Amino acid sequence: MKLRHGLGIFAILSLALVGCTGDQGPAGPPGPEGPQGPEGPPGESFSEFAYQGNFGEACQHCHATAVNQVLLTNHTNAFLDLGENQDNLYCLQCHTTGFNCDVYAGTGEIIEGTCEEPDDGYSGYIGDTTEEGMARAMSLEGVQCESCHGAMGPDFNAHQPYMSFATRDDADTGESLSLCQGCHDAQIDEWKTSGHANVAGGDNDAFNEEHYVGRSSCDGCHTSEGYIRDNDPAMMTYDFGPPYSFVGCPTCHDPHVGEMGSGNEAQLRNVGDVVLSYTFPWEPDDEEAPTMEGYGPGQTCAQCHKARRDNANVAGQIAVGYGHFGPHSSPQADMFIGAGSYEIPGYDYSGARASTHNTAITDGCVSCHMGFDEAFGGHVVHNFMPDLETCQGCHAGLDEAGLEAIQQTYKDKLDEVAVLMGYADWDTLYLTLDDDNFLWEVCQREAVYGAEFVYASGDLGAHNPNYANALLDNAIDYLTNTCVVPAP
Ligand code: HEC
Ligand code: HEC
Ligand code: HEC
Ligand code: HEC
Ligand code: HEC
Ligand code: HEC
Ligand code: HEC
Ligand code: HEC
Ligand code: HEC
Repeated sequence: MKLRHGLGIFAILSLALVGCTGDQGPAGPPGPEGPQGPEGPPGESFSEFAYQGNFGEACQHCHATAVNQVLLTNHTNAFLDLGENQDNLYCLQCHTTGFNCDVYAGTGEIIEGTCEEPDDGYSGYIGDTTEEGMARAMSLEGVQCESCHGAMGPDFNAHQPYMSFATRDDADTGESLSLCQGCHDAQIDEWKTSGHANVAGGDNDAFNEEHYVGRSSCDGCHTSEGYIRDNDPAMMTYDFGPPYSFVGCPTCHDPHVGEMGSGNEAQLRNVGDVVLSYTFPWEPDDEEAPTMEGYGPGQTCAQCHKARRDNANVAGQIAVGYGHFGPHSSPQADMFIGAGSYEIPGYDYSGARASTHNTAITDGCVSCHMGFDEAFGGHVVHNFMPDLETCQGCHAGLDEAGLEAIQQTYKDKLDEVAVLMGYADWDTLYLTLDDDNFLWEVCQREAVYGAEFVYASGDLGAHNPNYANALLDNAIDYLTNTCVVPAP
C-alpha cells in the first residue's frame, strides 16, 4: 500500500494553524439581512480566504464523517503523487485545490481558466515565497472538498456548496453540470459516447419525460440520484431532483469513500453480492440461491444489470403470459454466472453454468467492457463497450468480423426457435412478443422465455456461451419433441 503522505502534511498543518491562529474570525452577519447561518464551532474560526483549504479542517465540526473519509482517498494525495513535477504548472491545475488561472499545456496550447477574483486558490500563491504564501499554498495541495463543492468562504455563513449528481453539459448553455469536469475530461468525453449517456437521445429533458424516471421502483437503476439514494446511507433522506440525471461519474463512484486499505481503489459504490431475482427452485434468502459475488469492480455493474423478475412474476409469466414477456431488458449478471432464467423442467442446466469467462475473468464485467487506453498516461476506458484487445489474449486474432460470425450461430438458433413457433424468424416473433405470448400454450412460453433471455442479454453468446447454448438448445429440443403444437 502507498504511504499517505498527505495525512502527514495535514497533521503538521493543523498543528501549525492551531498554534498560530487563535484570533476570532469575522462576526456573523447582523439579523436584518436574513436568518443567521448555523453557529460556528466554539473557539474556531473560518479563514478570511475564499478557499478554506486545510484538508477540510473548516468542515470537520459539522461534517466529520465526510472529512474523515475524504482524507483516505487518493484525491487527498494528488499533489504528492506529482513527485518531481510539483512545480509543473500544467500538472498543478488538476492536482491542487482552487487552481483557476490560464496555463500552458505541455503541448504548448493555452488552457483557459477562469481566474476569478479574488484568486486565492493554489494558483494565487505560485511564486509567493513569503512564509505565509508558502503555508497557504501547502494548505491547498491535493484535491480537497472545495475542488468539487466550490469555494466556501470568506463569508462562511453564506456558503452555498456546489452539488450535482449529473455528468452531462446543460443542453441550453453547454455549461458542465459535472463536479468532476476540468480534471476528468478524458473519462467524461468517453462516457458521453456510452449507452449510459445516450438514453433518450442523450437529451436531459427527454430523459426526464421517460416513464421510469421519478418512479421509485425504477429510478434506483435508471437515474444517478436513485442509485445514490439507495446505496449511500448519508444520502438516504436527501431531497433529490427533479430533474434527474443519467447514470454517470457520481453514480458509480462515491467521492467520499476512502479506498485506502479497502481494496476498492476506484471508490465504487456497492460492490456487494448480487442475489439474482429469479432464484427458483430456491427462495431468494436461501443460501443456495444463485448469487454473483466476488467479482470486485464488476459487482457495481451487476447491481443494475440483472434480470429483475422474481419467482412469483416468472411463474405468472409462464402460466398466463405477461405484458413485458421475459426478463427485464438487462439479464447480463444472470447470464454471466449462468443462472436466473426460467429453466424447462426435465432438462439439466447445471452443467452449463460455468464457463471460462466466469471462472477466468475475475473482475466480471470490467476488463471486457472497460479496456485500457495508453493515452494520457493510461487509464481505464469509460465508454463501456467491449474491447476486443481484452479478448485476444485467449481468442487470438478475434476481430469484429470474427465476433459477428460467432454471434451469428446464436442468432441462427434464435431464428430456429421462432420458426418452430410458427414465425418467419426471431425478429418477426420479437415484434409482437408482448401481445402474442398470451395466446401461446404454456409449454411454448416455457421454451421462448429462455430464448428471450439470451436475446435480452445483448451479447449473443459472449457473456456465457455455455448457458446461452443450453437455453437455446433445450428450447429447440423441447419445441421439436415435446411441445409440438399443431398449426392453427
Ligand atoms: C457550522 C456547521 C457547518 C460547517 C462548518 C460546514 N457546513 Fe456544510 N452544511 C451545514 C449544514 C447545516 C448543511 C445542510 C444540512 C445537510 O445537508 O447536512 C450543510 C450542507 C453541506 C453540503 C450539502 C449541500 C447540498 O446541496 O445538499 C455540502 C457539500 C457542504 N455542506 C460542504 C461543506 C464544506 C466543504 C465545508 C467546509 C469548507 C462545510 N460544509 C462546513 C453546516 C456546515
Ligand atoms: C481538481 C481536480 C479533480 C476533480 C474536480 C475531481 N478529481 Fe478525481 N482525481 C483527480 C486527480 C489529480 C486524481 C489522481 C489522484 C492521485 O492518485 O494522485 C484523481 C483520482 C480519482 C479517482 C481514483 C483513481 C485511482 O485509481 O485512485 C477517482 C475514482 C476519481 N478521481 C473520481 C472523481 C469523481 C467521481 C469526481 C467528481 C465527483 C472527481 N474525481 C473530481 C482530480 C480531480
Ligand atoms: C486535466 C487535469 C490533469 C492534468 C493537467 C494532469 N493530471 Fe495527473 N491526473 C489527473 C486525473 C483526473 C488523474 C486520475 C485519473 C486517471 O488516472 O486518469 C490523474 C492521475 C495522475 C497520476 C496517478 C496517481 C496515482 O498514483 O494513481 C499521476 C502520477 C499524475 N496524474 C501525474 C501528473 C503529472 C506529472 C502531470 C503533469 C505532467 C499531470 N498529472 C497532469 C488529472 C490531471
Ligand atoms: C471528488 C469530489 C468531491 C470531494 C473532493 C468532496 N465531495 Fe462532498 N460530495 C460529492 C458528491 C458527488 C456528493 C453527493 C453524493 C454522495 O455524497 O454520495 C457529495 C456530498 C456531500 C455532502 C452531503 C452528503 C453528506 O455526506 O452529508 C456533504 C456534507 C459533503 N459532500 C461535504 C464534503 C466535504 C466536507 C468534503 C471534504 C472533506 C467533500 N465533501 C469532498 C463530491 C465531493
Ligand atoms: C435492477 C435495476 C433496474 C430496475 C429496478 C429497472 N431497470 Fe429498466 N433497465 C435496467 C438496465 C440495466 C437496462 C439496460 C439494459 C441494456 O441496455 O441491456 C434497463 C432497460 C430498460 C428499458 C429498455 C430501454 C431501452 O432503451 O431498450 C426499459 C423500457 C426499462 N428498463 C424500463 C424500466 C421500468 C419501467 C422500470 C420500473 C418499473 C425499470 N426499468 C426498473 C435496469 C433496471
Ligand atoms: C457505470 C459505472 C461507471 C461510471 C458511470 C463511471 N465509472 Fe469510473 N470506473 C468504473 C469502474 C468499474 C472502474 C474500475 C476499473 C477497474 O477497477 O479496473 C472505474 C475507474 C475509474 C477511475 C480510476 C481508474 C483509471 O484508470 O482511470 C477513475 C479516475 C474514474 N473511474 C473516473 C470516472 C469519471 C470521472 C466518471 C464520469 C465520466 C466515471 N468514472 C464514470 C465505473 C464507472
Ligand atoms: C446505476 C445502474 C447502472 C450501473 C451501476 C451500470 N449500468 Fe450500465 N446501464 C444502466 C442503464 C439503465 C442502461 C440503459 C440505458 C438505456 O436505457 O438506454 C445501461 C446501459 C449500459 C450499456 C449499453 C447497453 C445498450 O443497450 O446500448 C452498457 C454496455 C452498459 N450499461 C454496461 C455497464 C457496465 C460495464 C457497468 C459497470 C462498469 C454498468 N453498465 C453499470 C444502468 C447501470
Ligand atoms: C467475455 C467478455 C464479457 C464479459 C465478461 C461481459 N461482457 Fe457484456 N458484452 C460483451 C460482448 C462481446 C457484447 C456484445 C457487444 C456487441 O455485440 O456489440 C456484450 C454486450 C453487453 C451489453 C449489451 C450491449 C448492447 O449494445 O446491447 C451489456 C449491457 C453488457 N454486455 C453488460 C455486461 C455486464 C453488466 C457484464 C457483467 C455482469 C458483462 N457485460 C460481462 C462482452 C463481455
Ligand atoms: C480468459 C480467457 C478468455 C477471455 C479473456 C475471453 N474469452 Fe471468450 N472464451 C474463452 C473460452 C475458453 C471459450 C470457450 C467456452 C468455455 O470454455 O467456456 C470462450 C468462448 C467465447 C464465445 C463463444 C464461442 C462459441 O463458439 O460459441 C464467445 C462469443 C466469446 N468467447 C467472446 C469473447 C469476447 C468478445 C471476449 C472479449 C471481450 C472474450 N471472449 C474474452 C476464453 C476467453
